[in-house]
Formats: sequence, structure tokens, C-alpha cells
Amino acid sequence: MNAMLDTPQTAANPVIAGRNLVKEFPVRAKGILRRKVGAVHAVSGVSLEIGQTETLALVGESGCGKSTTARLMMNLIPPTSGEILYEGRDLTKLSRNQMRPIRRDLQLVFQDPMASLDPRMTVFEIIAEPLRVHNLFKNGGRDRVNSLIEIVGLNPEHRNRYPHEFSGGQRQRIGIARALALQPRVLMLDEPVSALDVSIQAGVINLLEDLQDELGLSYLFVSHDLSVVRHIADKVAVMYLGKIVEEGTTDQLFAGPAHPYTQALMSAIPLPDPRKERTRERIVLQGDVPSPSNPPSGCRFRTRCPLFKELDESQQAKCIDVEPLLRSDHAGLTRAACHYAEPKQLV
Ligand SMILES: Nc1ncnc2c1ncn2[C@@H]1O[C@H](COP(=O)(O)OP(=O)(O)OP(=O)(O)O)[C@@H](O)[C@H]1O
Ligand code: SF4
Ligand SMILES: [Mg+2]
Repeated sequence: MNAMLDTPQTAANPVIAGRNLVKEFPVRAKGILRRKVGAVHAVSGVSLEIGQTETLALVGESGCGKSTTARLMMNLIPPTSGEILYEGRDLTKLSRNQMRPIRRDLQLVFQDPMASLDPRMTVFEIIAEPLRVHNLFKNGGRDRVNSLIEIVGLNPEHRNRYPHEFSGGQRQRIGIARALALQPRVLMLDEPVSALDVSIQAGVINLLEDLQDELGLSYLFVSHDLSVVRHIADKVAVMYLGKIVEEGTTDQLFAGPAHPYTQALMSAIPLPDPRKERTRERIVLQGDVPSPSNPPSGCRFRTRCPLFKELDESQQAKCIDVEPLLRSDHAGLTRAACHYAEPKQLV
């Protein structure tokens, strides 16, 4: 099998692509001068591609850099280095004025709908606001807002109610309608169902899937919940401490995760069959995630890696000294960043 180093998994015709994205937040000393004393390595060389009508899921533990990556992909925050390619242009090179029309195409849906919706505005006004901001309301805006309310499954008679009068699931539908107002091409969904009851999640997920098919949308779906990801995503990228450690199609990844970190995450997914659930091997990670201000040398996962503990000293030295790159030559179907990657069937 060919070793393919350091090129992202490719979408046939990516709508949007991030290349080698790096984001470091400065850590400053207290005091008047606020000298830079270090950096949080939030995102450290991430490349992603999303095709049309495709969902790429970004998964990983809290603080691994998922939201920062989503914000970078939308060009909401400037990268320390790297490119975002959209319609043949690198968005990071555009001026604010050049970026304005592109903003319409790239929209964000947040985890907590209550925090992202203005409590003093009616549902109608919340959804109309992006149209007004872009001077598009005068031309059929009222009809568009009314049809969006219906598209996302809300009762049109409730258009003059306020966010607090709705349930969590309904509020997320309002957030989705608002994100759709400007007819975007790409939605960055940052944990869109994590704040919702499991019973409500399915309705919102189904809505997102229907909207994707009808409108040809591309999704970056940020989540820490692999069961949700398995349902909605076409492709998955697993992040650990600012880096992608494994990526593949959803089918490939679930058939044989090859990176020890993905294997640990996957071993925690509850299995529907109680007999299998009782007898399965659960991989529990020891220790805390290291600080992104001072990531470990070589493989960033080595301080918690269960496989590392089983290796002999010379093998361990490689994990400590040499950074493993994403590669597909480990006899698996995915691309994993581990010197000793080996696919394992877990679910
Ligand atoms: N504006 C900022 N200034 C300094 N550090 C930041 C900033 N934003 C994020 N970070 C740090 O960058 C790292 C990645 O944060 P990020 O929010 O992207 O993680 P995440 O994967 O989305 O986590 P969660 O699952 O908790 O939402 C964290 O260590 C975080 O503390
Ligand atoms: S490179 Fe080494 S430490 Fe890193 S995941 Fe693979 S075995 Fe574990
Ligand atoms: Mg986040």
C-alpha cells in the first residue's frame, strides 16, 4: 500500500478547504506591559476539505481545538498561518469588504441556542436580522422569513413569540432558520445538539439531514458524541490537542479505527445489544489532557496512549522523538497519525 503523507482526505470537488491551519493564542504576563510569555497551541496544522452536500464531523475531547478550527474555516478569526480556499480564493488574504459577500455563504450554528438568540427579539425578527443587515429584507424578506419558519418545522403562528417561550429543540430550529436566511452554502455546526435531550436530538438531526439534501448544503459538524456522528457524517476527522490524529469516511472509521485515541473514544460508545455491551473491551484513558501551551514532544498523545505502554523502549523512543504524520499505509482504510497504527474492530 502506498504511504500518503500529509495530504488531507479529498472531497471530489471541495466547496471549502482548510490547508495547514495553525492558531496560536498568545499567553500574556499580568501587569501593564502584558508581555507575551507563551502561546496556546490551539490548532497545529489542520487540513480539512468539505464537498457539496457532504458532512464532515470533527470530534474530540473538550479543549482539543474543534471550535477554533470551525472559526478558522469561516475566517472569523485570523490564522497564525495556513489557508482557507473557497471559490478559488484564499479567504485569509481578503479584505473585510471582499469578505462581506462571502460571509453570507458561510454560517455558524451554535451549541446553546439560548445564548446565541437575542431574548428581546421575536422569532420573526431574529430570522429577519441577517437579511436586514445585508440589505436584503426589502426584496421579499417577509415571505422568506415566513417560509423559513415553516421549513424548520416551527408553527408560523408563533412568529411573534420570544425565544424563552420555546423548548430547547425549537430554539435550535430558530437558530438553524436564522443561519439559513442568507441562503448559505456551508454551515459550521458547533455541537448543535449537545445541549438537547436525547429524545429531541433526533428531530433536529433529521431536520439538518433533510435541509442538506434539499438545499445542497455542506456541513462541518463539531461534536464529541460519536453515536451522533455515526448517524449524520459522511467523513470524520478525530482531533487531539490541536491535531487531526485520524480521518476517513464514517464507514471506514467505524469498521476499523487504527489510532489508539480513536479506539478509546469508540470503545465508550454504548452498544444497543446488552450482551455485547457487557462483554466488550472498554479502553479507559489515564491521566489528563496535557496543556496546549506545552504539548508533549513527538506524538502528542503519548502521555495517555495505552499502546505506548505496551511498546519496548526503542519503539517508545520513536513516539517521544518523532511526530507521527497522517498516513494510510497501516493496512487500514483510514489515515492515522500513529507510528504503530493498527485497525481494530470495536463496534
Ligand atoms: N480566545 C482564546 N484565547 C486563548 N485561548 C483560547 C481562546 N480560544 C480558545 N482557546 C484555547 O484553545 C484551546 C482549544 O479551544 P477550543 O474552544 O477550540 O476547543 P474545543 O475542542 O471546541 O472544546 P469544547 O469541546 O470544550 O468546546 C483550549 O485550550 C482553549 O482554552
Ligand atoms: S505514535 Fe506512539 S504514542 Fe502516539 S498514538 Fe501511536 S503508539 Fe501511541
Ligand atoms: Mg468548542
